[in-house]
Amino acid sequence: MADFAAWSRGIQARMESVLARVLPEAAIAPEKLHAAMRYATLGGGKRIRPMLAFAAGEAVGVDAARVEYAACAVELIHVYSLTHDDLPCMDDDDLRRGKPTCHVQFDEATALLVGDALQSLAFELLASPEACADTATQVAMLALLAKASGSRGMAGGQAVDLAATGKTLELAELEFMHIHKTGALIQAAVLLGGMSGGALAAEARTGLERFAHCVGLAFQVMDDVLDAETDTATLGKTAGKDAAQGKATYLTLMNAKEARIYARELIDDALAAVSIFGPAGQRLSDIARFIIERRY
Ligand code: IPE
Ligand code: IPE
Ligand code: MG
Ligand code: MG
Ligand code: MG
Repeated sequence: MADFAAWSRGIQARMESVLARVLPEAAIAPEKLHAAMRYATLGGGKRIRPMLAFAAGEAVGVDAARVEYAACAVELIHVYSLTHDDLPCMDDDDLRRGKPTCHVQFDEATALLVGDALQSLAFELLASPEACADTATQVAMLALLAKASGSRGMAGGQAVDLAATGKTLELAELEFMHIHKTGALIQAAVLLGGMSGGALAAEARTGLERFAHCVGLAFQVMDDVLDAETDTATLGKTAGKDAAQGKATYLTLMNAKEARIYARELIDDALAAVSIFGPAGQRLSDIARFIIERRY
Protein backbone atom coordinates (compact mmCIF):
# COMPACT_ATOMS: atom_id res chain seq x y z
CA MET A 1 0.00 0.00 0.00
CA ALA A 2 2.99 2.34 0.46
CA ASP A 3 3.47 2.15 -3.28
CA PHE A 4 -0.23 2.90 -3.77
CA ALA A 5 0.04 6.02 -1.60
CA ALA A 6 2.88 7.35 -3.78
CA TRP A 7 1.02 6.40 -6.99
CA SER A 8 -2.20 8.10 -5.89
CA ARG A 9 -0.32 11.27 -4.94
CA GLY A 10 1.22 11.21 -8.42
CA ILE A 11 -2.24 10.99 -10.02
CA GLN A 12 -3.50 13.82 -7.82
CA ALA A 13 -0.59 16.04 -8.84
CA ARG A 14 -1.02 15.13 -12.50
CA MET A 15 -4.75 15.92 -12.38
CA GLU A 16 -4.12 19.22 -10.64
CA SER A 17 -1.81 20.36 -13.41
CA VAL A 18 -3.93 19.04 -16.30
CA LEU A 19 -7.14 20.51 -14.90
CA ALA A 20 -5.39 23.84 -14.26
CA ARG A 21 -4.40 23.84 -17.94
CA VAL A 22 -7.77 22.85 -19.44
CA LEU A 23 -9.90 25.18 -17.31
CA PRO A 24 -10.07 28.72 -18.75
CA GLU A 25 -7.95 31.23 -16.85
CA ALA A 26 -9.82 33.40 -14.34
CA ALA A 27 -8.59 36.49 -16.24
CA ILE A 28 -10.58 35.44 -19.32
CA ALA A 29 -14.16 36.80 -19.61
CA PRO A 30 -16.55 35.94 -18.06
CA GLU A 31 -14.04 36.24 -15.21
CA LYS A 32 -16.34 35.38 -12.32
CA LEU A 33 -17.60 32.16 -13.92
CA HIS A 34 -14.07 31.07 -14.82
CA ALA A 35 -12.80 31.88 -11.32
CA ALA A 36 -15.66 29.85 -9.83
CA MET A 37 -15.01 26.89 -12.15
CA ARG A 38 -11.37 26.85 -11.04
CA TYR A 39 -12.34 27.30 -7.39
CA ALA A 40 -14.69 24.29 -7.49
CA THR A 41 -12.33 22.02 -9.41
CA LEU A 42 -8.78 22.78 -8.25
CA GLY A 43 -6.98 22.22 -4.98
CA GLY A 44 -8.86 19.34 -3.45
CA GLY A 45 -10.66 16.06 -3.80
CA LYS A 46 -9.34 12.53 -3.69
CA ARG A 47 -9.46 12.18 -7.51
CA ILE A 48 -10.68 8.60 -7.13
CA ARG A 49 -12.40 8.60 -10.53
CA PRO A 50 -9.26 9.67 -12.41
CA MET A 51 -7.32 7.03 -10.45
CA LEU A 52 -9.82 4.42 -11.60
CA ALA A 53 -9.54 5.56 -15.21
CA PHE A 54 -5.72 5.37 -15.18
CA ALA A 55 -5.78 2.02 -13.38
CA ALA A 56 -8.26 0.55 -15.89
CA GLY A 57 -6.05 1.85 -18.68
CA GLU A 58 -3.09 0.09 -17.04
CA ALA A 59 -5.09 -3.16 -16.76
CA VAL A 60 -5.66 -3.28 -20.53
CA GLY A 61 -2.37 -1.65 -21.58
CA VAL A 62 -3.39 1.88 -22.62
CA ASP A 63 -0.91 4.77 -22.67
CA ALA A 64 -1.61 7.08 -19.69
CA ALA A 65 -1.31 10.19 -21.89
CA ARG A 66 -4.45 9.05 -23.71
CA VAL A 67 -6.36 8.15 -20.55
CA GLU A 68 -5.81 11.68 -19.26
CA TYR A 69 -8.72 12.97 -21.38
CA ALA A 70 -11.22 10.45 -20.01
CA ALA A 71 -9.88 11.02 -16.47
CA CYS A 72 -10.42 14.79 -16.78
CA ALA A 73 -13.85 14.42 -18.37
CA VAL A 74 -15.18 12.21 -15.56
CA GLU A 75 -13.66 14.39 -12.83
CA LEU A 76 -15.27 17.50 -14.36
CA ILE A 77 -18.70 15.82 -14.41
CA HIS A 78 -18.09 14.76 -10.81
CA VAL A 79 -17.22 18.32 -9.71
CA TYR A 80 -20.31 19.60 -11.51
CA SER A 81 -22.40 17.03 -9.61
CA LEU A 82 -20.87 18.09 -6.27
CA THR A 83 -21.39 21.79 -6.98
CA HIS A 84 -25.08 21.21 -7.71
CA ASP A 85 -25.45 18.65 -4.88
CA ASP A 86 -24.37 21.34 -2.40
CA LEU A 87 -26.89 23.97 -3.57
CA PRO A 88 -29.62 25.05 -1.13
CA CYS A 89 -32.27 23.38 -3.34
CA MET A 90 -30.45 20.05 -2.93
CA ASP A 91 -28.34 19.17 0.14
CA ASP A 92 -27.73 22.77 1.21
CA ASP A 93 -24.12 22.32 2.28
CA ASP A 94 -21.64 25.09 3.03
CA LEU A 95 -18.42 23.06 3.20
CA ARG A 96 -16.83 21.01 0.43
CA ARG A 97 -13.27 19.73 0.14
CA GLY A 98 -12.39 21.76 3.23
CA LYS A 99 -13.53 25.08 1.71
CA PRO A 100 -16.79 27.03 1.52
CA THR A 101 -19.02 25.54 -1.19
CA CYS A 102 -19.11 27.26 -4.56
CA HIS A 103 -22.47 28.98 -4.00
CA VAL A 104 -21.27 30.27 -0.60
CA GLN A 105 -17.98 31.58 -1.98
CA PHE A 106 -19.62 33.05 -5.11
CA ASP A 107 -23.44 32.90 -5.43
CA GLU A 108 -26.14 30.42 -6.37
CA ALA A 109 -26.53 31.44 -9.98
CA THR A 110 -22.78 31.21 -10.50
CA ALA A 111 -22.68 27.74 -8.89
CA LEU A 112 -25.45 26.61 -11.22
CA LEU A 113 -23.52 27.89 -14.23
CA VAL A 114 -20.29 26.31 -12.95
CA GLY A 115 -22.03 22.93 -13.12
CA ASP A 116 -23.39 23.61 -16.60
CA ALA A 117 -20.03 24.78 -17.91
CA LEU A 118 -17.99 21.97 -16.33
CA GLN A 119 -20.34 19.46 -17.90
CA SER A 120 -19.85 20.99 -21.36
CA LEU A 121 -16.09 21.17 -20.89
CA ALA A 122 -16.05 17.46 -20.00
CA PHE A 123 -17.63 16.52 -23.33
CA GLU A 124 -15.43 18.96 -25.24
CA LEU A 125 -12.33 17.25 -23.80
CA LEU A 126 -13.60 13.75 -24.43
CA ALA A 127 -14.26 14.76 -28.06
CA SER A 128 -10.56 15.71 -28.54
CA PRO A 129 -8.89 13.63 -31.26
CA GLU A 130 -6.27 12.46 -28.71
CA ALA A 131 -8.88 11.01 -26.32
CA CYS A 132 -9.11 7.66 -28.08
CA ALA A 133 -7.17 5.57 -30.54
CA ASP A 134 -10.26 4.80 -32.62
CA THR A 135 -13.12 7.10 -33.71
CA ALA A 136 -15.99 4.59 -33.45
CA THR A 137 -14.94 3.75 -29.89
CA GLN A 138 -14.66 7.45 -29.08
CA VAL A 139 -18.28 8.00 -30.15
CA ALA A 140 -19.24 5.12 -27.85
CA MET A 141 -17.26 6.77 -25.04
CA LEU A 142 -19.15 10.05 -25.51
CA ALA A 143 -22.47 8.18 -25.44
CA LEU A 144 -21.40 6.26 -22.34
CA LEU A 145 -20.48 9.42 -20.41
CA ALA A 146 -23.72 11.11 -21.52
CA LYS A 147 -25.83 8.21 -20.27
CA ALA A 148 -23.86 7.91 -17.01
CA SER A 149 -24.40 11.62 -16.27
CA GLY A 150 -28.06 11.89 -17.23
CA SER A 151 -31.45 10.75 -15.97
CA ARG A 152 -30.49 7.10 -16.33
CA GLY A 153 -27.31 7.76 -14.41
CA MET A 154 -26.09 10.38 -11.92
CA ALA A 155 -28.86 12.98 -12.38
CA GLY A 156 -31.49 10.25 -12.12
CA GLY A 157 -29.93 8.96 -8.90
CA GLN A 158 -29.93 12.47 -7.49
CA ALA A 159 -33.64 12.76 -8.31
CA VAL A 160 -34.31 9.54 -6.39
CA ASP A 161 -32.18 10.84 -3.49
CA LEU A 162 -34.25 14.03 -3.23
CA ALA A 163 -37.57 12.20 -3.53
CA ALA A 164 -36.50 9.71 -0.84
CA THR A 165 -35.49 12.33 1.73
CA GLY A 166 -37.54 11.81 4.87
CA LYS A 167 -38.69 8.38 3.69
CA THR A 168 -37.39 4.87 4.34
CA LEU A 169 -36.37 3.02 1.20
CA GLU A 170 -36.18 -0.74 0.90
CA LEU A 171 -32.79 -2.26 0.21
CA ALA A 172 -33.45 -2.71 -3.53
CA GLU A 173 -34.58 0.92 -3.89
CA LEU A 174 -31.56 2.17 -1.96
CA GLU A 175 -29.26 0.12 -4.15
CA PHE A 176 -30.94 1.56 -7.28
CA MET A 177 -30.33 5.09 -5.94
CA HIS A 178 -26.67 4.47 -5.05
CA ILE A 179 -25.89 2.65 -8.30
CA HIS A 180 -27.21 5.67 -10.19
CA LYS A 181 -26.13 8.72 -8.19
CA THR A 182 -22.57 7.49 -7.56
CA GLY A 183 -22.06 4.14 -9.28
CA ALA A 184 -22.76 5.39 -12.80
CA LEU A 185 -19.88 7.88 -12.88
CA ILE A 186 -17.52 5.42 -11.21
CA GLN A 187 -18.45 2.85 -13.84
CA ALA A 188 -17.86 5.47 -16.55
CA ALA A 189 -14.41 6.25 -15.13
CA VAL A 190 -13.37 2.60 -15.28
CA LEU A 191 -14.80 1.83 -18.71
CA LEU A 192 -13.64 5.08 -20.35
CA GLY A 193 -10.13 4.52 -19.02
CA GLY A 194 -10.06 1.11 -20.64
CA MET A 195 -11.74 2.25 -23.87
CA SER A 196 -9.22 5.06 -24.44
CA GLY A 197 -7.02 2.52 -26.19
CA GLY A 198 -9.82 1.36 -28.51
CA ALA A 199 -12.66 -1.18 -28.29
CA LEU A 200 -12.39 -3.49 -25.30
CA ALA A 201 -12.27 -7.26 -25.75
CA ALA A 202 -15.47 -8.89 -24.42
CA GLU A 203 -13.79 -10.54 -21.44
CA ALA A 204 -12.00 -7.35 -20.38
CA ARG A 205 -15.20 -5.34 -20.67
CA THR A 206 -17.18 -7.83 -18.58
CA GLY A 207 -14.43 -7.86 -15.92
CA LEU A 208 -14.25 -4.06 -15.77
CA GLU A 209 -18.05 -3.73 -15.66
CA ARG A 210 -18.38 -6.14 -12.76
CA PHE A 211 -15.49 -4.52 -10.92
CA ALA A 212 -16.97 -1.04 -11.40
CA HIS A 213 -20.47 -2.08 -10.38
CA CYS A 214 -19.22 -3.44 -7.04
CA VAL A 215 -16.77 -0.61 -6.38
CA GLY A 216 -19.37 2.06 -7.27
CA LEU A 217 -21.89 0.70 -4.81
CA ALA A 218 -19.27 0.12 -2.09
CA PHE A 219 -18.04 3.70 -2.54
CA GLN A 220 -21.43 5.21 -1.68
CA VAL A 221 -22.04 2.70 1.15
CA MET A 222 -18.76 3.94 2.68
CA ASP A 223 -19.71 7.58 1.99
CA ASP A 224 -22.84 6.95 4.08
CA VAL A 225 -20.82 5.29 6.87
CA LEU A 226 -18.21 8.06 6.93
CA ASP A 227 -20.90 10.76 7.08
CA ALA A 228 -22.01 9.19 10.36
CA GLU A 229 -18.64 8.18 11.81
CA THR A 230 -16.00 10.71 10.77
CA ASP A 231 -15.57 14.32 11.86
CA THR A 232 -16.05 17.37 9.67
CA ALA A 233 -12.35 18.35 9.66
CA THR A 234 -11.28 14.94 8.35
CA LEU A 235 -14.10 14.71 5.81
CA GLY A 236 -13.73 18.26 4.49
CA LYS A 237 -17.55 18.36 4.36
CA THR A 238 -20.13 18.63 7.14
CA ALA A 239 -20.39 15.35 9.03
CA GLY A 240 -23.69 13.96 10.26
CA LYS A 241 -25.73 15.71 7.58
CA ASP A 242 -27.49 12.60 6.31
CA ALA A 243 -29.19 11.84 9.62
CA ALA A 244 -29.90 15.54 10.25
CA GLN A 245 -31.63 15.86 6.85
CA GLY A 246 -33.43 12.51 6.95
CA LYS A 247 -31.54 11.16 3.93
CA ALA A 248 -32.12 7.58 2.86
CA THR A 249 -28.75 5.87 3.36
CA TYR A 250 -27.45 2.40 4.16
CA LEU A 251 -27.39 3.40 7.80
CA THR A 252 -31.18 3.71 7.81
CA LEU A 253 -31.38 -0.03 7.05
CA MET A 254 -28.39 -1.47 8.91
CA ASN A 255 -25.84 -0.41 11.51
CA ALA A 256 -22.39 0.87 10.55
CA LYS A 257 -20.72 -2.45 11.30
CA GLU A 258 -23.12 -4.28 8.98
CA ALA A 259 -22.69 -1.64 6.28
CA ARG A 260 -18.90 -2.06 6.47
CA ILE A 261 -19.28 -5.82 6.14
CA TYR A 262 -21.52 -5.32 3.11
CA ALA A 263 -18.96 -2.96 1.53
CA ARG A 264 -16.21 -5.52 2.23
CA GLU A 265 -18.22 -8.23 0.42
CA LEU A 266 -18.69 -5.96 -2.57
CA ILE A 267 -14.96 -5.24 -2.65
CA ASP A 268 -14.18 -8.97 -2.51
CA ASP A 269 -16.38 -9.41 -5.61
CA ALA A 270 -14.60 -6.49 -7.28
CA LEU A 271 -11.20 -8.05 -6.57
CA ALA A 272 -12.35 -11.37 -8.02
CA ALA A 273 -13.59 -9.61 -11.17
CA VAL A 274 -10.18 -8.09 -11.97
CA SER A 275 -8.16 -11.21 -11.28
CA ILE A 276 -8.38 -11.87 -15.05
CA PHE A 277 -5.91 -9.03 -15.63
CA GLY A 278 -3.18 -10.58 -13.49
CA PRO A 279 -0.48 -8.14 -12.24
CA ALA A 280 -1.74 -5.45 -14.66
CA GLY A 281 -4.89 -5.21 -12.52
CA GLN A 282 -2.94 -4.42 -9.33
CA ARG A 283 -3.81 -0.71 -9.30
CA LEU A 284 -7.52 -1.46 -9.65
CA SER A 285 -7.27 -3.84 -6.69
CA ASP A 286 -5.38 -1.24 -4.63
CA ILE A 287 -8.08 1.38 -5.27
CA ALA A 288 -10.82 -1.09 -4.35
CA ARG A 289 -9.12 -1.74 -1.02
CA PHE A 290 -8.56 1.96 -0.42
CA ILE A 291 -12.29 2.60 -0.90
CA ILE A 292 -13.21 0.58 2.18
CA GLU A 293 -10.16 1.53 4.24
CA ARG A 294 -10.37 5.29 3.66
CA ARG A 295 -11.20 7.72 6.45
CA TYR A 296 -12.46 10.55 4.19
C1 IPE B 1 -18.33 12.48 -2.87
O1 IPE B 1 -17.40 11.94 -3.74
C2 IPE B 1 -19.69 12.40 -3.46
C3 IPE B 1 -20.11 11.06 -3.83
C4 IPE B 1 -20.43 10.77 -5.03
C5 IPE B 1 -20.19 10.04 -2.81
P1 IPE B 1 -15.85 11.87 -3.35
O2 IPE B 1 -15.73 11.28 -1.98
O3 IPE B 1 -15.12 11.18 -4.45
O4 IPE B 1 -15.46 13.40 -3.30
P2 IPE B 1 -14.07 14.12 -3.60
O5 IPE B 1 -13.94 14.20 -5.08
O6 IPE B 1 -12.97 13.30 -2.98
O7 IPE B 1 -14.21 15.47 -2.98
C1 IPE C 1 -23.74 12.85 -3.82
O1 IPE C 1 -24.09 12.05 -2.76
C2 IPE C 1 -23.75 12.16 -5.11
C3 IPE C 1 -23.49 13.14 -6.18
C4 IPE C 1 -22.92 14.30 -6.00
C5 IPE C 1 -23.87 12.77 -7.51
P1 IPE C 1 -23.97 12.78 -1.35
O2 IPE C 1 -24.92 13.92 -1.24
O3 IPE C 1 -24.00 11.72 -0.30
O4 IPE C 1 -22.48 13.36 -1.46
P2 IPE C 1 -21.78 14.21 -0.33
O5 IPE C 1 -21.84 13.37 0.92
O6 IPE C 1 -22.52 15.49 -0.23
O7 IPE C 1 -20.37 14.35 -0.83
MG1 MG D 1 -26.72 14.47 -2.09
MG1 MG E 1 -24.47 15.90 -0.48
MG1 MG F 1 -22.78 11.67 1.42
